[in-house]
Amino acid sequence: MFVRIEADYEAMSNRAARIVAELVRRKPNAVLGLATGSTPERLYAHLIRIAREEQLDFSRVTTFNLDEYEGLPASHPESYHSFMQRHLFDDLGLSIEQTNILSGMSPDPTAECADFEAKIRRAGGIDLQVLGIGSDGHIAFCEPGSSLAARTSLVALHPQTIADNSRFFDNEQEVPRKALTMGVGTILEARSCLILAKGEAKAGVWAKMIEGPVSSQVPASALQLHPWVIAIADTAAASQLQNCNYYMHLDRELADQPVLPHWIFQPELDPRRTALATH
Ligand code: PGA
Repeated sequence: MFVRIEADYEAMSNRAARIVAELVRRKPNAVLGLATGSTPERLYAHLIRIAREEQLDFSRVTTFNLDEYEGLPASHPESYHSFMQRHLFDDLGLSIEQTNILSGMSPDPTAECADFEAKIRRAGGIDLQVLGIGSDGHIAFCEPGSSLAARTSLVALHPQTIADNSRFFDNEQEVPRKALTMGVGTILEARSCLILAKGEAKAGVWAKMIEGPVSSQVPASALQLHPWVIAIADTAAASQLQNCNYYMHLDRELADQPVLPHWIFQPELDPRRTALATH
């Protein structure tokens, strides 16, 4: 895991946006995995700015979102469909055909989830998955105790997540109780991951994700098993890391190294694929 610490939320978001922009510049038909929540909002704002300033072309990009609340129509202001339109898709001019978000209104969630996985496969797999982390250790809506091999499925939200997300709704009763979400197994198949955290409330769980044991009780810790994860936090979220100085040393030492893995551009060199092919 490449652990990066930035002075504040703006610096962290700008650094993250630069990574996404570099991917799209070098691979105009990139497949982006996207996240919602308050953490990636400024990443998206910086990406929109960079796209304008540098005439970055998103017309051939495909996107997949991590999750969606069950029972919320796309038109609901707090649906993740609405979030993405508001924070990214409208400004980048992305068409409906380019973007993929699970439907929270499907009468058959199992079929909806299977279809979503098939779409990811048809698109050639996700090149870079953007992630936030929940205060209970979730990534996407993979809550504590989720199988680390799980695929996209319908899940029940943890009471902590319901409480955390009640700030977006009139009251806690209005927060949906279930969601459709990529599984940890689905997420780990992305060619690279970019996970972000801001603020002191995430400091404990951020340290568990990076320095604690891999455990289904902290689903984000499964990212330790992935060969290319960039984990960027502001100083508040990084404040409980034991090895802060070492991570900052590595960041300086590796400043001239690529931020994206070579196997995004040469998928046949993906180490996981190579390991499978030799057996
Ligand atoms: P937040 O949510 O960015 O709003 O803190 C992160 C998450 O729940 O994944």
